Amino acid sequence: MIISQIAFNVSGIILNEKKKDLICSRLNKRLRANNLSGFEEYCTLIQESTDERLQMVSALTTNVTSFYREKHHFYYLSKLIEDKFIEKIQNGEEFRVWSSACSSGEEAYSAAMTASKILMSLPCAKVKILGTDIDNNMLERSKAGIYSLEGKKNIPSGIFNEFCLEQKNQFTFKKEISDRLRFKSLNLIAEWPFRSKFHAIFCRNVAIYFDKMTREKLWSRLAQRLHVGGELYIGHSERISNPNMLGLRSVGLNSYKRVE
Ligand SMILES: C[S@@+](CC[C@H](N)C(=O)[O-])C[C@H]1O[C@@H](n2cnc3c(N)ncnc32)[C@H](O)[C@@H]1O
Repeated sequence: MIISQIAFNVSGIILNEKKKDLICSRLNKRLRANNLSGFEEYCTLIQESTDERLQMVSALTTNVTSFYREKHHFYYLSKLIEDKFIEKIQNGEEFRVWSSACSSGEEAYSAAMTASKILMSLPCAKVKILGTDIDNNMLERSKAGIYSLEGKKNIPSGIFNEFCLEQKNQFTFKKEISDRLRFKSLNLIAEWPFRSKFHAIFCRNVAIYFDKMTREKLWSRLAQRLHVGGELYIGHSERISNPNMLGLRSVGLNSYKRVE
């Protein structure tokens, strides 16, 4: 099927035969948006248009996320700052976190609030949270940073009161949080347009859509982007089978530390 081949080439996502009905129902809205009457015409379009290929991936991927999802990782992140990097931060080092498949941004904002809470007594601490995703529609939502009050229930109330601003039936973030965030488009299976390293990387609930080879290459590339002592957090149904070969050590639930 041309559609699954192109989805794989563009994003690494595996769509098997069992997902055919789901694929068709998700792509029907792309057919309507392009005024097309059938999938044959749609296959021609995606072979010609880079934009539509990205729209297709956006329609096919799952963007489910929430604030403080798999909350143990935010606890590990606060311990990482407190126990390992606080002195360096006090001495002016920028603490850098990468939310590498950030969807609509909740993971990146949760990391920013976690770091800001731990560093409350150091208002000048330099903290940079980078949120990236392949889906530009999701990045627009991340950049806007406006969420329905439904999301409030997952944010500890003390943190919500400290860093969020409620407006009618929505909320957003105080400047001290949004100033620490940047959102950019990035395809995890392509070249990454930066060389910098991070103290913590979240790569959760995206590698499950890749095949084994793509997944293992991704873990290895992410490990190389961690500072020694930095941590990688992966999704609840993901696992790194050979952490020591990558210079990683398991340090908690779906969490790995760069050791060398
Ligand atoms: C289920 S969401 C995970 C969101 C968040 N990390 C979490 O765990 O709550 C998966 C995200 O991966 C993104 N994605 C899929 N393939 C990608 C790729 N090749 N590069 C970057 N992001 C990708 C999707 O657009 C989607 O937003």
